[in-house]
Amino acid sequence: MSGVPDPLSDHGNLASALDLAAREAKAYLAAIDEALVRPRGGVGVAATDLPDEGVGSLAALSELVRAAVEDSTRSAGPRFFHFVMGGGTPAALAADWLTSALDQNAYNWVSSPFAARLEQISVAWLKDLFGLPATWSGVITTGATMANFAGLAAARRWWGLEQGVDVEAEGLSGLPSMKILTSGYVHVSALKAVAMLGLGRQRVRTLSRDGAGRIDLDALASELEERNSEPVVIIANAGDVNTGDFDPIAEMVALARKHRAWVHVDGAFGLFAAVSPTTRHLVAGLELADSVGVDGHKWLNVPYDSGYAFVREPKFLAGAFGVSASYLGTEALARPVFGNLGPEMSRRARSLALWATLRAYGRAGYRAMVERHLALAQRVADQVDAAPDLERLADVSLNVVCFRYRPSGIPEDQLDDLNRTLGELVLEDGRVYFGTTVFAGKVAFRPAIVNWRTREEDTDLIVATVRELGARAVAQIGASRAMGATPASAKSEPVEPSESAEVAKPQR
Ligand SMILES: Cc1ncc(COP(=O)(O)O)c(C=O)c1O
Repeated sequence: MSGVPDPLSDHGNLASALDLAAREAKAYLAAIDEALVRPRGGVGVAATDLPDEGVGSLAALSELVRAAVEDSTRSAGPRFFHFVMGGGTPAALAADWLTSALDQNAYNWVSSPFAARLEQISVAWLKDLFGLPATWSGVITTGATMANFAGLAAARRWWGLEQGVDVEAEGLSGLPSMKILTSGYVHVSALKAVAMLGLGRQRVRTLSRDGAGRIDLDALASELEERNSEPVVIIANAGDVNTGDFDPIAEMVALARKHRAWVHVDGAFGLFAAVSPTTRHLVAGLELADSVGVDGHKWLNVPYDSGYAFVREPKFLAGAFGVSASYLGTEALARPVFGNLGPEMSRRARSLALWATLRAYGRAGYRAMVERHLALAQRVADQVDAAPDLERLADVSLNVVCFRYRPSGIPEDQLDDLNRTLGELVLEDGRVYFGTTVFAGKVAFRPAIVNWRTREEDTDLIVATVRELGARAVAQIGASRAMGATPASAKSEPVEPSESAEVAKPQR
């Protein structure tokens, strides 16, 4: 019989399976600095039907590796500027492997004293790194969406108790809808968290004073004044995805303190402004907020997935997520049950990667990396400003450069189509990777620089590639218009590897 009837019979292959994975991973990562971000192959996963009889670990892994090498997006590499995605530092990645090998359940001190202690230490280190008071509660989540969820769950508990209701025990029925105020910078994940909490996405009011989404503080003040009798939740955004800009946290907190308001800060990537004295002012007032969410798999460069929630008053986080059953036992405060401080009970020990990367590079290492990225963003901004066919759309206060392609002779009403088409070409080309957004009503690019590997030769390809492919985009929308098609929805032609791709390869 060729199949493997029971994992037990594969027992002897464990070391070989790990060796295979390590060998292949090393080869993959050794090539990642030079590789196209998006390989031009097809999606070649060989087996698609659930087998009755398995092939065993080594054969399965070999199949997987072939498909992965062919098809994986090199998002852990230095030229993936789409969304806001980091990679894994050497220390974090190796610790993440160990996490799987050790397979600890970071529920509490009984399931894994090691994981619980490491989470306690590394969460404390993060508070120190970001300048949050040590007295705050903190927990590792799967990302910023869940960090926002945890922070806003704590806010919801506070809001319920302000009205004499234990929301976790009694639910929301009978309570008025929660007033949630924010700026136009609010990230969809915060809205998603609001929806998951049963508070209603549409209840969130964005108070913007301009098309970019900047907070209207006067409107916030009068909203709070009007609702003086009821508790309100404010979401302050530290790092807008389109521009990297910040809401004025200190001013928002000052208004909140005059009223009954909770301030949650979404600092998924922007919180890293705190690690450099050059940008620390952007998060002034952070330590006065009530809850904060931040990501690990963005600027901290730990592998997916990792995020962190912090709450000023520990009782609100514990109250939002604490449950108990006799077999789970009770724990002293000195030994927090992390499974009771966030949504998941059984939890991957994400603290290993977090602890390892902070131990490996320290405060100074993270400051150096963040400052390198800040300088790279300014360099890209300068290149945009120097290019006659590019238009920068926002100041660069952090690590995101918002701009669009604007060659002469193209009327304003065609620029959105042109930039959307160009965005598709950039993604298909694969040398650098970033798509489009809509900023202040304009289709625009917004490359974000957060990967630990990224150097000047990588970011220099941003402007070079956009300008190079721009002519092709102009021709493409011209052709689409001549044929009467809508360019934005027209499928762009597959882009063959171009000679210029060779010319513009990163030089190391
Ligand atoms: C500002 C902001 N908040 C929250 C999130 C959600 O983070 P995650 O995808 O890790 O859940 C993101 C992700 O891009 C973000 O940029």
